[in-house]
Amino acid sequence: MRHLISILDLSKEEIDQLIDTANDIIEFPEKYAEICKGKKLATLFFEPSTRTRLSFEAAMYELGGNVLGFSEAGSSSTAKGESVSDTIKVVSGYADVIVMRHPKEGAPLVASMKTSKPIINAGDGGHNHPTQTLADLITIKREKGHFEGLTIGLCGDLKFGRTVHSLVEALSRYENVHFVMISPNELRMPDYVKQDILKHGNVTFEETTDLEAVLGKLDILYMTRVQRERFFNEADYIRLKDSYILTPKKLELAKEDMRILHPLPRVNEISVAVDDDPRASYFRQTLYGKYIRMALILMLMGVSL
Ligand code: CP
Repeated sequence: MRHLISILDLSKEEIDQLIDTANDIIEFPEKYAEICKGKKLATLFFEPSTRTRLSFEAAMYELGGNVLGFSEAGSSSTAKGESVSDTIKVVSGYADVIVMRHPKEGAPLVASMKTSKPIINAGDGGHNHPTQTLADLITIKREKGHFEGLTIGLCGDLKFGRTVHSLVEALSRYENVHFVMISPNELRMPDYVKQDILKHGNVTFEETTDLEAVLGKLDILYMTRVQRERFFNEADYIRLKDSYILTPKKLELAKEDMRILHPLPRVNEISVAVDDDPRASYFRQTLYGKYIRMALILMLMGVSL
């Protein structure tokens, strides 16, 4: 019985296997259409979501299974004071696999200790978002062909943006990956990521506030939204929210084969005029996210063809 709490719960070989399965699902969806018949997936979302929740639900339906759950804490008995532990114990009797998003860091880990069903972390506070990382990895693999040797720009809110923390953890395991971290000083990558993951793993990185100065050397530009919900002070959010806005003019500085990723939702940080650029991969990324989540459900439930 497996959980997915951190992307490091998966080996590189398992990530390759998930990408291979997702690619097979993309090519031969009919083979998988009934594979989870009679199985149920619960989506427990204590925080808002569009892509993660709906892609998991679509994933389970496309595998022939069923879905139950809630999309906000206020419509569950959490509003009456029920603990996460009690909620998980109860839902474990109703579902075969549980997907959970929670504003508190570590909540999915606590949940995993209270159940015999697989728990999938769909985002815990500013900490981790491993299934977004799987969506990011399959996108990079499909669009660039490999991970090794890539120069990856991470731009925006690197302090609170949980997707970049998980992505750095995942990509640091590949040879000769170089990170360029582009953020305002107040939103720099946390020290634990730089010390424990990058320096500990001898992964090279640089930090800058200037996107245009580094754009020309990037193979991947991973844009992120400034995370309003994690700020204590609205004035700070207003001051920082438009620090970076990617436009067609700025993209003239980028390589022709660079790819632009974004976990979405987008606010202002990528101009809609960029969407028609062939380098814009972020909507394809949302679709690949559904297929890799299908592969993950199969892996954690131990289901094979
Ligand atoms: N990328 C992502 O987690 O999007 P949602 O918040 O819409 O799920």
